[in-house]
Amino acid sequence: MNKRGSSISVLDFGATWYEYRLARHDQTTQNVLLNEPDIAHYLNNPFYLGATIGRVTGRIKNGRFTLGGKQFQLQQNEGATTLHGGPHGFAYLQWEGTILSTDEGDNYLQFSRQVDQSLDGFPGTMTVTVTYSLSEDDIVDITYQAICDTDTLFSPTCHAYFNLNKDNQDIRNHDIKSNAQFVEALDEEHVPNGILAPIDNDMYDYRNFKNVGQAIKSIIDSNHGAGIDDTFLTPAGADVTIRDQESNLTLQTTADRNGVTIFTANGFTPTMQTNKGAGKPFLGIAVEPHILSNAINLEGFGNMILKAGVNQTYHARYHVSEGV
Ligand code: BGC
Repeated sequence: MNKRGSSISVLDFGATWYEYRLARHDQTTQNVLLNEPDIAHYLNNPFYLGATIGRVTGRIKNGRFTLGGKQFQLQQNEGATTLHGGPHGFAYLQWEGTILSTDEGDNYLQFSRQVDQSLDGFPGTMTVTVTYSLSEDDIVDITYQAICDTDTLFSPTCHAYFNLNKDNQDIRNHDIKSNAQFVEALDEEHVPNGILAPIDNDMYDYRNFKNVGQAIKSIIDSNHGAGIDDTFLTPAGADVTIRDQESNLTLQTTADRNGVTIFTANGFTPTMQTNKGAGKPFLGIAVEPHILSNAINLEGFGNMILKAGVNQTYHARYHVSEGV
């Protein structure tokens, strides 16, 4: 909790971001994340609510890649595809949690874990820490750090779903803005096929604020999916803004990766019992910065290789503030 009275909470299962509660000008507090009050949900979390994703975010074609001349076959968890690190990805691990604080009063929640090839199929024994900090002006910074004894892959993200509404409405009343100019084209298994499609005044053009409901509708109307579920090229780092004019809140996401997936919770089911009621499509929006999906199998899509002995750090920042 910071001095303003805003707070975050994170579960040690899945290093899952559970709550982001803002102190509002009207003296109330408002949580802007979707969560499931029943912990049992997180043991089988098909939509990765709040979870930390790794070692690799997104889809790897056939769960297969070549590194250092050797072919690796990962466990597949979506047909032939490996999604979000596979069945024993970061989201499904128990992490070691610590609360840290500095003299300045900053608050940190740190989660550590070792993973090895026998667990998740990726090469090498890797030590990972995920650190959440909340600043005095309500910025949440998530720092991912990893080091491995062999060359491996590392492309983590945060799978939190935001809903800025005060009530239980879905996010179709929100607006989205992003300067992305290309989107990853997908094959029939929803895996990026190596084509970056230019965005030009179409359903993916969010260079000016666009109503999220409108964006979802144009994707559905043109048979491009059940809502937004796409990965955008962000060469200068992810920079996505979501705002809700009704609740007068704006979320800004920035990160140091070349891609960001926007996912509008298409396919949420009523078996989910969230803090915003039973699950339904569009109940939340996830903004997931990472290295472009399937980059390890594609030319020019970014580098997710972590070299042996190198300490790699990535950041993702989420900032919800009053005003639109
Ligand atoms: C992906 C979706 C997937 C969802 C799983 C998102 O990051 O883009 O395609 O269904 O995660 O929960």
